[in-house]
Amino acid sequence: MSTTFQLDTSTSRANPTPAPMKRLTVPKIRQRKTDGESGEPLVMLTAYTARQAQLLDAHCDLLLVGDSLGQVIYGLPSTIPVTLEMMANHAAAVVRGSFHSVVVVDMPFGSYEQSPQQAFESATFLLKQSGAAAVKLEGGEAMAETVAFLNRRGIPVMGHVGLTPQAVNVLGGYAARGRSDTEADKIVSDAKALDEAGAFAIVVEGVIEPIAIAVTRTVSAPTIGIGASAQCDGQVLVTDDMLGMFERVPRFVKKYGNIAETIEQTARTYAEEVRARSFPGEEQTYQPKS
Ligand code: KIV
Repeated sequence: MSTTFQLDTSTSRANPTPAPMKRLTVPKIRQRKTDGESGEPLVMLTAYTARQAQLLDAHCDLLLVGDSLGQVIYGLPSTIPVTLEMMANHAAAVVRGSFHSVVVVDMPFGSYEQSPQQAFESATFLLKQSGAAAVKLEGGEAMAETVAFLNRRGIPVMGHVGLTPQAVNVLGGYAARGRSDTEADKIVSDAKALDEAGAFAIVVEGVIEPIAIAVTRTVSAPTIGIGASAQCDGQVLVTDDMLGMFERVPRFVKKYGNIAETIEQTARTYAEEVRARSFPGEEQTYQPKS
């Protein structure tokens, strides 16, 4: 069944027809894994714009306003330069465009690492500006105190371990993590620390499969894998990657579409018609009323 949207210009809200289901909540997401057992895998995709959110919302449990928008939308070389204002603006658009999924917004690099108090200020800014339900931050044991601090003050936190792109300058690149015993043990203990601190879900990115499985078995919160394992409690991909917007994507991405080709072909046809003066045609042209 297809969904159509009508823009309410007074609220900037696009109202879907047929009416959507009720929005999921963070506790509902957390409860999808109980006593180490998870049912249907959680579905999460990134979203950065209202229209993208409208199209993805009904198919997802969570929409992540990822700081990957730095590269995907802004053409930046990494997520490091992404700001709180960028995240807040895109998160507000995604909340306006969605009715069902829990919207989670990434805390950008430099906005939370200094102290729990700094994280609280940044997180409240993001949630107040956008209406999102939760924040995500990168890091393990070092961030556990911050996760507990935010959680106790009413801010649900999603953790992120393994390949943490904001640490690219320390890691030296985006290669899969957990190949040495020391690194593997650290990823598991990082996830455990976040779990004990109250993270409601944990993204496990770019790790070898046995580590993703070990993390999933160790923590009580649902794990959401990306470049990890089908045995995680859920999966996430960068939407533009899986739509086929980019030629080069990480190995763990499955391209479910080829949207880049559609855009190029459509632009080529438009350009040809403009140059041939066959666009605009009669149907797209206003004439005086007779
Ligand atoms: O920023 C992002 O999009 C992410 C996902 C890849 C998990 O953190």
